[in-house]
Amino acid sequence: MKAIVVTDQAAGTAGMTLVERDAPAPAGNDVLVEVHASGFTPGELTWPSNWTDRLGRDRTPSIPGHELAGVVSALGYGTRGLSVGQRVFGLTDWTRDGTLAEYTAVEARNLAPLPGDVDFTVGASLPISGLTAWQGLFDHGRLQPGQSVLVHGAAGGVGSMVTQLAGEAGAYVVATGRARDRQAALDLGAQEFVDLDRDTLEDVGRVDLVFDVIGGDVQKRSAALVQAGGTLVTIAGPPEARPADGLAIDFVVEADRAQLSEIVRRVRDGRLRTNIGTVATLDDAVAAFNPTERPTGKTIIRVRP
Ligand SMILES: NC(=O)c1ccc[n+]([C@@H]2O[C@H](COP(=O)([O-])OP(=O)(O)OC[C@H]3O[C@@H](n4cnc5c(N)ncnc54)[C@H](OP(=O)(O)O)[C@@H]3O)[C@@H](O)[C@H]2O)c1
Repeated sequence: MKAIVVTDQAAGTAGMTLVERDAPAPAGNDVLVEVHASGFTPGELTWPSNWTDRLGRDRTPSIPGHELAGVVSALGYGTRGLSVGQRVFGLTDWTRDGTLAEYTAVEARNLAPLPGDVDFTVGASLPISGLTAWQGLFDHGRLQPGQSVLVHGAAGGVGSMVTQLAGEAGAYVVATGRARDRQAALDLGAQEFVDLDRDTLEDVGRVDLVFDVIGGDVQKRSAALVQAGGTLVTIAGPPEARPADGLAIDFVVEADRAQLSEIVRRVRDGRLRTNIGTVATLDDAVAAFNPTERPTGKTIIRVRP
């Protein structure tokens, strides 16, 4: 099969190469998926799990990409809940070969059925950004209707999902980003927008929940904006500052079939829009992940036409 592999962490996306590999065999409780579309998150190649397995052993050359939409082509021993020929989408294990390939092996429980009227390209754009937004807002942030949420990077992959889901849940959304992101964030339903390069973040006042995707100084200053009993949720690594009278939670997104189904239901009925930028073939994937201009929206690799 064709696959994108990486061997050199320092090279980043420039070190991706297209190779021929054997298709993987599905292990117990796995399905083998014929990948139709694959998603890749910026920053993925900095995660240790791309380079080593759980015991810290080198696992290069490894196949990156952890989001997929495709069709089940074989079942491993004992696999239940999905069938050969079924359309699926979801998140693959961080420490196994991923989805920038014609086939990938993944635990069945990490996938959900993809409805027939949802395109594979759309399906592959949802798992990481959709699940991260859902888990940050509802599992970790315990968002309630009427609460206020400060959403950093609101025009980005995760932030655009956070903005829409928080709005749908009845929250007051203050979005942040760069000047050029203002209209996109307001179109996604944010009530206010803060240009982090020009506006004063502290003018936002106190909020119930901060959803941080940026880290560093932005995260530290945001901790001070959390009101008593509120929460700072971050996906940018362990928090360097904590709210004086609230929680600080950092987490890594997990596969969840029920949540994937909630997310795709919202996409089907128009409550949730996904933010797809470049769509490229596997042959053109290396160029697509090394753009000469800042990409807008998520890059999806259409593995099969
Ligand atoms: N822990 C987890 O489970 C988890 C899950 C998903 C993602 N992540 C991580 O979370 C981060 C965000 O992911 P994503 O897919 O949403 O990325 P993304 O699509 O690039 O979105 C990030 C957004 O934040 C903006 N931004 C970043 N720094 C900024 C700054 N200093 N001032 C203003 N705007 C800024 C970016 O604008 P520019 O492009 O102009 O910088 C972009 O619009 C990545 O590092 C990713 O690896 C972690």
